Amino acid sequence: LLSDALVFFGITSDLAYKKIFPALQAMIQRGHFDIPIIGVGRRDWSIEQLQSYVRKSLEEQASVDEAAFQKLCSLLYYIFGDYSDRATYDKLCQVLQIAEAPLYYLAIPPSLFATVVEGLGQSSCVKNGRVMVEKPFGRDLESARMLNCILHSIFPESHIFRIDHYLGKEPVQNLLYTRFANSLLEPIWHRVSIASIQITMAEKFGIDARGQFYEETGAIRDVVQNHLLQVTACLMMDPPINEQHEAIRDERARLLKSIDPIEPSNVVRGQYKGYASEPGVAPDSKVETFAAVKLNIDTWRWASVPIYIRAGKCLPSTTTEVVVRLKRPPQDVFGERAFGLANYFYFRLSPNVLTAIGIRSKTPGDGMVGSEVGLVAQVEHGNEMNPYERLFEDAMKGDSMLFARQDEVEAQWQIVAPILDRATPVYEYAPHTWGPPLADHMIPPDGGWHNPNAT
Ligand code: BG6
Repeated sequence: LLSDALVFFGITSDLAYKKIFPALQAMIQRGHFDIPIIGVGRRDWSIEQLQSYVRKSLEEQASVDEAAFQKLCSLLYYIFGDYSDRATYDKLCQVLQIAEAPLYYLAIPPSLFATVVEGLGQSSCVKNGRVMVEKPFGRDLESARMLNCILHSIFPESHIFRIDHYLGKEPVQNLLYTRFANSLLEPIWHRVSIASIQITMAEKFGIDARGQFYEETGAIRDVVQNHLLQVTACLMMDPPINEQHEAIRDERARLLKSIDPIEPSNVVRGQYKGYASEPGVAPDSKVETFAAVKLNIDTWRWASVPIYIRAGKCLPSTTTEVVVRLKRPPQDVFGERAFGLANYFYFRLSPNVLTAIGIRSKTPGDGMVGSEVGLVAQVEHGNEMNPYERLFEDAMKGDSMLFARQDEVEAQWQIVAPILDRATPVYEYAPHTWGPPLADHMIPPDGGWHNPNAT
C-alpha cells in the first residue's frame, strides 16, 4: 500500500529548511509526489507563514520552480500544537480522515520521539501508518532499545524506517555498486592486500545555529555513530547472499557487529576554538566538534587492517572521502620504498563524486624512477538526486533497504559506547586546521591522513 499522506513533525525545523523542502519540490517536479503534507510544529504560524518559509528555503537551498512550488503549497496543511497535548493529535486525526496509510516523519529532537510516538499511539490516526525516524536513533544503546520498544508498541517492524541519509546518497550507493559490480576488487579486498582504510568527513563550516542540538550530540553521535559507520559497512561488508534487499541489510549488520567497541586510547576528540561562545553552547562545554577514531575488525577478512575515521566542523575543507591503501610490493625492485604505499583506491563522496585508482608509473628517462598517477574511474558533477528524495520515495513504497535496521543501530551504539561523553579529554584546535595535532599521530608513517585539499 502506497502512503497517501505525509505527516511531518518538525516541519519548521532547520532540517526541513535545508534538505526536505528542496527534496519535496524535486519529487513534485519529477511527478513522484502528489499526497497531502500535514506539517505539525511548535511555532504559532499561519499557513501563509509556513508557505513563505518553504519559498525562502527553496530560494536559498535550490531554486524555485513556480509550478512545483504552487503544487507544494496546495498540498500543504499546518497544525500548530504542543507534542504532549492530546488536542494536537485530535486536530491531526481530523485532517487525516481520508488517509488510509499515512507516513509519519519525525524530524524532531531525539528527546521528543517518545512523546510523539506515544501521542500517536493514543490517538486513532495511526491506521496502516508507517513511521520514518530521523537520526540519531536514541543517544546510546539503552535509549535506542527503549525507543525501539516504544515504536514497536505501535508500528510493526516492516513499517519502521530509521533514517541515515548517507545510505540514500548517490555516492554511497556507488560504493556498494563499485564493490559488487566489478570482479577487480573482490580478490584483493581483504587483509592480505589492504594495508589500511581511512574515511574523512570534513566540514568547513561550524555548527551554524544548531548549538543546542550539537550540545546534545557532538561529532561522535552526530556523524560517526551513524553516517560514517554506515559508509564503513558499505565499503567492507561481505557480498549479499542474494539480490533481495534484506540480504544487503543482513551483511551491513554483520559487518557492524564485527567491529570492536572503540578503546578510549583509540580516539582523539577536539573542539574548535570559539565553539563555547556559540549561541546555545555551555561556556564550559566538553562536547567534541571533531573526532578521530581507530577501528578494529577482528574477522578472517579484516583482522589487523586498521580503519581510521575522522570527522569535524571548522576544518580546512568540506569533503567526504574514503582512501583504501594497498600493501607495498613484497620486494623493493626500484629502491622506491621511501615513497610510501604505492597503490590505493580513492572514493570521494562529496562535494563531487570521484573514484580513482592510484598506481606508480615510470617517468620517461634513463632511470627506473616513477611517480604516482591517479586513474580516475568516474567523475560526476553534483547533479545527483537529493538523498531525501530517494528515502521518502522508498518509505512511501515500504522499501527499507536504505534504512538502518535495529540490529545495525544497536551495533553502532555498541561500537562507540566506550568513547561517548566525557570518556576522554577534549583538545582545542584552531578553526580551519585538521583538528588537534594529536590526531595526526594516530596513523603511523605510511602516508598519514590523506589531505583532501591536495587531491
Ligand atoms: C547531518 C549532521 O546528519 O549530516 C550534520 O547532523 C552534517 O552535522 C550533515 O553537517 C552532513 O550531511 P551532508 O549530506 O551535507 O553531507
